Amino acid sequence: MSQSQPSPVTDPRGELLAGLRAPRPFVSPKFFYDALGSRLFCAITELDEYYPTRTEAAIMAAALAEIRAAWGSPGCTLIDLGAGDCEKASRLFAALDPAQYVAVDISESFLEQSLDCLRQRFPSLPMLAVGADFSRELELPAEVRREARLFFYPGSSIGNFTPGEARAFLSGLRGHLDDDGGLLIGVDLVKDRATLEAAYDDALGVTAAFNLNLLRNVNRLAGTDFDPADWRHVAFFDAANSRIEMHLEARRPVTVRAPASGDRAQGLERRFATGERIHTENSCKYRLEDFRALLESAGFAARQSWTDPRGWFAVILARAHRS
Ligand code: AVI
Repeated sequence: MSQSQPSPVTDPRGELLAGLRAPRPFVSPKFFYDALGSRLFCAITELDEYYPTRTEAAIMAAALAEIRAAWGSPGCTLIDLGAGDCEKASRLFAALDPAQYVAVDISESFLEQSLDCLRQRFPSLPMLAVGADFSRELELPAEVRREARLFFYPGSSIGNFTPGEARAFLSGLRGHLDDDGGLLIGVDLVKDRATLEAAYDDALGVTAAFNLNLLRNVNRLAGTDFDPADWRHVAFFDAANSRIEMHLEARRPVTVRAPASGDRAQGLERRFATGERIHTENSCKYRLEDFRALLESAGFAARQSWTDPRGWFAVILARAHRS
């Protein structure tokens, strides 16, 4: 399994221990997002160095009228992938005038709270919460309108998939669309190494805390005995693969153990030498033309794209290819 992105968590303990036993140990980034990890990610988005969130927001705000014109008619079914507090999608409502808003995220109870607030602000817009780990297989309930579906996938979360996984994911989305469907997606673009590396290794150490907090979550889910003090945060840009890689590196020789549980579940005893690493995340950075080609190969045609003046981030509106 690659380390890039979520798959349904059916046996988190087994999955985590298998990753830690691998010759090149890894933990999937889906395990970043426990309660503290989600708060730390919110803090990351406010850092001076972490440009993607604010750059995307500025692009969207400036392009709203053009997005509306490029999409065409009002009355879409807006399907928000990884909706969270639904704030980003709500900024599109006035421009797109959707007929239905569908918020998809892992925690349905959190989504329901978000929608309760949103219903007060937009009382005439029908809304639906779908609790699902959409990253591998998206299932949409029958109440989701079929007409003019527009997937909204902001934040460059697509970058946490490898390009091959991204293609499979986007093809999966295409399968939920008729010929009148589309995708509005945010994509982080390749830029100079110093800017990229600072965004994933900030001066305040918030990203380091986000990465190290993973170990607390692994201890909770897999019964391991990681001590975060034994590990350091490492982030670098791998130009050959056009991605930031995040790792946790052992500061000293460490043996990590987890007891066997029950008759069948194996325990863990894994020795790490000083400097040995656990791979925790990839964050792929694209050239716009390469991402357009990726969309094309997944059954979409990029209709229009918007970038910031520095060309750091892109928002792309793509239409489903005629099937
Ligand atoms: C969620 N995802 C798009 C973030 C990113 O930039 O790849 C996760 C992140 N990891 C470290 N900082 C932010």
